Amino acid sequence: MPVIVIASPKGGAGKSTTAVLLGTELAYAGANVTFLDCDPNRSLTLWAERADLPKRISMITNVEEADVIKTIRRHDQDGSVVIVDLEGVASRLVSRAISQADLVITPMRATTLDATIGVRALSLIAEEEEALNRTIPHAVVFTMTRAIRSKQHKGIKQSLKNQGVDVIKPSLMERAAFSAFFEFGGDLRTMPAQGRMDGALENASAFAQAVYRRLSVQEVVA
Ligand SMILES: Nc1ncnc2c1ncn2[C@@H]1O[C@H](COP(=O)(O)OP(=O)(O)O)[C@@H](O)[C@H]1O
Ligand SMILES: [Mg+2]
Repeated sequence: MPVIVIASPKGGAGKSTTAVLLGTELAYAGANVTFLDCDPNRSLTLWAERADLPKRISMITNVEEADVIKTIRRHDQDGSVVIVDLEGVASRLVSRAISQADLVITPMRATTLDATIGVRALSLIAEEEEALNRTIPHAVVFTMTRAIRSKQHKGIKQSLKNQGVDVIKPSLMERAAFSAFFEFGGDLRTMPAQGRMDGALENASAFAQAVYRRLSVQEVVA
């Protein structure tokens, strides 16, 4: 089953939020999901401790450099979608996780500073591709976006597209419900209503489907 690695050297880019949102949507749609929390700050583990884990989700905590590859492989083989959350750094742990990915997702706020640091994730992926002599599919998702796009956002998106980077549509909007994962635990369907829940659910589900399509295409190709 697919291994999805969420990676960006930029802290606060929305990695852990994207991981939880994606995993809970895939589990709701019927997939078994295993989260690997490889961030010493343990954001995902904190989310897991807030409430009962939703059905079909399991959490592995404190995955370190020495055991990341075997942990990913073990859970990859047990039939679950593996989602790996990482610290916002470039490290050997991050590179090892990337080396095992079927898809790397780089969440990125649409500001020049965030994009400048975020695209360094693409260099890390390129290094692993070179070392392993295989293509590692990767995509960027804009996070915390607003309904009205800034010129900066449009410019960054165009520049990524010009470089041939896959940009996931839809982006993840800035929403109270998405930041509330870490307050309430669980998923969007179990948390108390935060702002416009129907909008949040629609955004989350369309994003998860866009990710799923990228995985299915690979499986067909493989
Ligand atoms: N789409 C979003 N809407 C609202 N708040 C968000 C969204 N994505 C992230 N946040 C908030 O931004 C902060 C950083 O997000 P986080 O997922 O922890 O980033 P990272 O894991 O990359 O450090 C957190 O407070 C989180 O709740
Ligand atoms: Mg995080």
